[in-house]
Order: sequence, then structure tokens, then C-alpha cells
Amino acid sequence: MKLARTYAFIKKDLSVIEETLEKTVYANQPLLQEAATQLLKAGGKRLRPIFLLLASQFGSYRLDQVKKAACSLELIHMASLVHDDVIDDSDVRRGKPTVKAKWDNQVAMLTGDFIFATALQQFTEIDNPKAHRVLSKTMIELTVGEIEQIKDKYNLHQNLRTYLRRIKRKTALLISSSCQIGAIVAGADKATEQALHNYGYYMGMSYQIIDDILDFTSSEKQLGKPAGSDLFQGNITLPALYAMDDQCIRQDLQTAFFDSENLDMSLLEPITSQIAKSDAIARARQLSDAYLQKAHNSLSSLPNNEAKEALENIANYIGNRKI
Ligand code: FPP
Ligand code: MG
Repeated sequence: MKLARTYAFIKKDLSVIEETLEKTVYANQPLLQEAATQLLKAGGKRLRPIFLLLASQFGSYRLDQVKKAACSLELIHMASLVHDDVIDDSDVRRGKPTVKAKWDNQVAMLTGDFIFATALQQFTEIDNPKAHRVLSKTMIELTVGEIEQIKDKYNLHQNLRTYLRRIKRKTALLISSSCQIGAIVAGADKATEQALHNYGYYMGMSYQIIDDILDFTSSEKQLGKPAGSDLFQGNITLPALYAMDDQCIRQDLQTAFFDSENLDMSLLEPITSQIAKSDAIARARQLSDAYLQKAHNSLSSLPNNEAKEALENIANYIGNRKI
């Protein structure tokens, strides 16, 4: 089954979720309304709603519950990005000006808060304490992941373990929770819920590793944001970690980061392209592939159906994605 067919099979329900998203962010305040609507229109892959929707097909599928949960997960993701762009001082996302660039940091913080609150308002309609426990724990971890990222900026003494823990918190847990909550709201059995949680976790790890690779290997046009922004922001991701096995690259990075307040791009750009050409990229891809394989394996105990095929397709697509 091709990815296009995956989408065809859930297209109708996805458009219901899209309509719910638009209604949910309606604000009785023009500025919040404009900023929130702009964010929705800026697009996004709607990965979390798609995962939630597919996971919920392994129980008794109820679109009314699924759409509320899916909409909440997407909004939490959106809110976290609006806040993240303030933290990272980023002016462009998905090829469009960020809320902080179009307005300012104050408007961005409040738009993020507003979207976050509407997500929770929507989620209160899910009558299942376990779903609430999973979601709130994930939001706490997301915030811890972000603060750890800030704490570790420009720190070259990091290792694989700290990197993996950070991407687990900042990306993988929200994806694994999307899958798990889909299973929970559909009343799936415990083993199914666990399998879907694991699938989401491994997919999330692979997704973030590929994101971190693309930051080195793709162009600004492809990324919809400046290329090489991770290093520029002092964020040491997997390709940089692996590349630092080469002592020359480590030394060059140390020199470039010496005055992190006034980074010299002419020092950083050649390091970025050196890393892009190094074997660090293939090594990072290998680790991403190992997670993808684990994601596939997690599905093996689930019954064969259209949803499982779709989850397998998405795993293949994520593994090959260029944007
Ligand atoms: C993007 O990382 C950021 C995240 C995935 C998480 C951000 C989380 C917060 C700001 C915590 C807020 C929490 C709640 C519950 C609203 P990145 O900067 O590496 O990626 P980018 O290039 O897409 O910006
Ligand atoms: Mg960012």
C-alpha cells in the first residue's frame, strides 16, 4: 500500500479533525484568533492525529472521541513549537514567519498558552483518567526535555545517552502518547496499547534523528527554515556528536563556540558542511534505521488490517523522508 492510499483510507476522518482544529482555536480576541489561524494554515504533517487515528482502529473506533484526542495532541504540539520559536529566537518555520517574528515574543507566549489551554479544554471531554495521566506526564517530560536542551547548549561534553534521553522527551514521547491514547480511547486491550506505545516511541526516536540529519544535509528551501540552525543555536545533535570522534572537528567546534554570544558564522559554516560530508551522517542513519526496525517489530503482535499496513507504510516513509 502506498502512502497516498494510507491517507485515502483515513482522509474523511482526517478532514473532520481538521475542521475540529479550526473550530477549537476560535478566539473571541482578534489577535489570538489571527495568530492561531495563521498557525493552522501554515500546515504541518498532522502526524500525531494520524497516529492516534490509526492506533484507535485496534479497538472500538469512535470518531467523536478520537477527534477530540487527536485535535488536543496536535494543538499541544503546535503550542510547544510557538514557545520553542521564542526560546530559539527563530523567525521562520515551514517557510512562514513565526508568531514571534510576525508579532513579538509576548504575543507568541500568549498564543502558545492559548493554544495549549484550548488543547486541554478539548481533552477534558475524554472521560478516561488513564488518558489524562499519560498526556499530563508527557507534557511534563516535554518541558523537561526542552529545558535540558537549553542547559546543554554549546556543551561539547555530551554523549549518546544524554542525546537519546533528550530526543525521547522532546519528540518521541508525544508520538508514543498519540499512539497509546488512540488505543486507550478505543478501549484496546493492554498488550495492544503497549505495542502501539512502543511503535510510537521507536518512530519518534527515528523521526527526530532524521530531523537532526536533515538539518545538516538539506537546503533552507527544503527545510522551510535556515539550514544548519541546530549548530548555530548550540544544539549538539547526533551527527555532530558522531562527527566529534574526529578530534579536528571537535577542536574546530570548540573554537567556533568559544564566544557563543557572538557566533562567527564563517567559522561554523565550514564545520556544518564538513559534518554533512562525513560518515557521521551514515552512522546517524544507521541508528535511525535500527529504531525503525524496532517500530516494525512492535507491530508484529497486532492483527493484520488496513491500519497496521498504514502504520508500516508510515514507518517506511519516515525512514526515507527528505523534508
Ligand atoms: C522543537 O525542537 C521543540 C520541541 C519538539 C518541544 C518544545 C517544548 C516546549 C517549548 C515545552 C512546552 C510545553 C508545552 C506542554 C506547551 P527544535 O528547536 O530542536 O526543533 P525546530 O527546528 O523544529 O525548532
Ligand atoms: Mg527550535
